[in-house]
Amino acid sequence: MNETYLALIQFASALSIALKERDAYTRLHSDRVMNLSTEIGAHLGLPSNDLMLLKTAAALHDVGKIGIPDEVLLKEGSLDNDELSIMHRHSERGENIVLSLKQDGSDIVAEAIRHHHEFFNGQGYPDRLAGESIPIFSRIISIADNYDAMATRRVYQDAKCHTAVMDIMSDELGHKHDPVIFAAFTKLIEKSEFRVR
Ligand SMILES: [Fe+2]
Repeated sequence: MNETYLALIQFASALSIALKERDAYTRLHSDRVMNLSTEIGAHLGLPSNDLMLLKTAAALHDVGKIGIPDEVLLKEGSLDNDELSIMHRHSERGENIVLSLKQDGSDIVAEAIRHHHEFFNGQGYPDRLAGESIPIFSRIISIADNYDAMATRRVYQDAKCHTAVMDIMSDELGHKHDPVIFAAFTKLIEKSEFRVR
């Protein structure tokens, strides 16, 4: 167990359980994104302390959904513009929840959560950061998040196969994803236990 971030990890575990109580899908999705993000980070050679923070941020990337009303969070159809802007607040809500922990590392985790929906071309949210000004943890989580969201079944969407997901993500390369991290991801996912069929 990493002693530096012990308190943070214990708080994160409790928040993760709270998220499961709120929305079981988001918790399961977050667990898979946590595992995939950690694999990407390890493949990129991040040191163990960074891997621990990345893992924590990935586990909690959608924790802000705790504060999204049911009629938006659990809606089966597509969201209208007002509902989308409510949903988009989850990254800032998540940042605030994690900042409130005030533990070693919580500021880094909170920042990674805030930026997990930024696009590499600057067209994401909430701050329209671009390129390497997006924290590396957020760029990693974004790739794992997109893969898992498309590869698993939702109330409003059937699961896509691995090849279909990778085709879509390749098309989005450069505008949504960091090309260098995506190149690492395309290699490791083929051997990963989290690769879907
Ligand atoms: Fe998210």
